[in-house]
Amino acid sequence: MISLALILVCATLTCGQEEEVDHDHAHHSGNPLDWLRDSVPGEPGVDYPIFNEVQDTAFSCEDRVFGGYYADPGMGCQGYHVCLNHGNNARKLSFLCPNGTIFQQSKLTCEWWFNVDCTEAQSSYNVNDLIGTGDSLPESNDLGPKRPIPTRNNDNVNPNRRSRK
Ligand SMILES: *[C@@H]1O[C@H](CO)[C@@H](O)[C@H](O)[C@H]1NC(C)=O
Repeated sequence: MISLALILVCATLTCGQEEEVDHDHAHHSGNPLDWLRDSVPGEPGVDYPIFNEVQDTAFSCEDRVFGGYYADPGMGCQGYHVCLNHGNNARKLSFLCPNGTIFQQSKLTCEWWFNVDCTEAQSSYNVNDLIGTGDSLPESNDLGPKRPIPTRNNDNVNPNRRSRK
């Protein structure tokens, strides 16, 4: 799961290109956080989380909607889970939003951290109740990035294209 999430993140941020760069030259900027500081308002790791892998948190998929998306406040909402419960078996797939973004529960998408209030995430978990009803999500027409559908869609978890000026 972790590697899948990283691949998705990499697809978004074109990490793949960086891997093709000669290693002698790949890290010339010294601090890997400089790129973030230059690209995203705020201090990485302080104003927004910069996890490099999904963390083990208290979040449980028990009694969640099948196929529902859940921001994890235990990861500052950078992490989110897709619950795939089957019978008594609570299963989850876990993902990270790209650095600088966190999961906007009300829209089920990664957005710039400064546009998301992670403390509101849990009170919006019920947005998942709309899954499978045919009703559209609130404000879904305003969505910049597509809703992430990690298992079936490469063009996902993409908060960057529209928000970046
Ligand atoms: C966020 O940045 C940190 C520090 O550069 C890095 O270790 C981590 O892998 C990044 N996380 C993601 C999801 O790209």
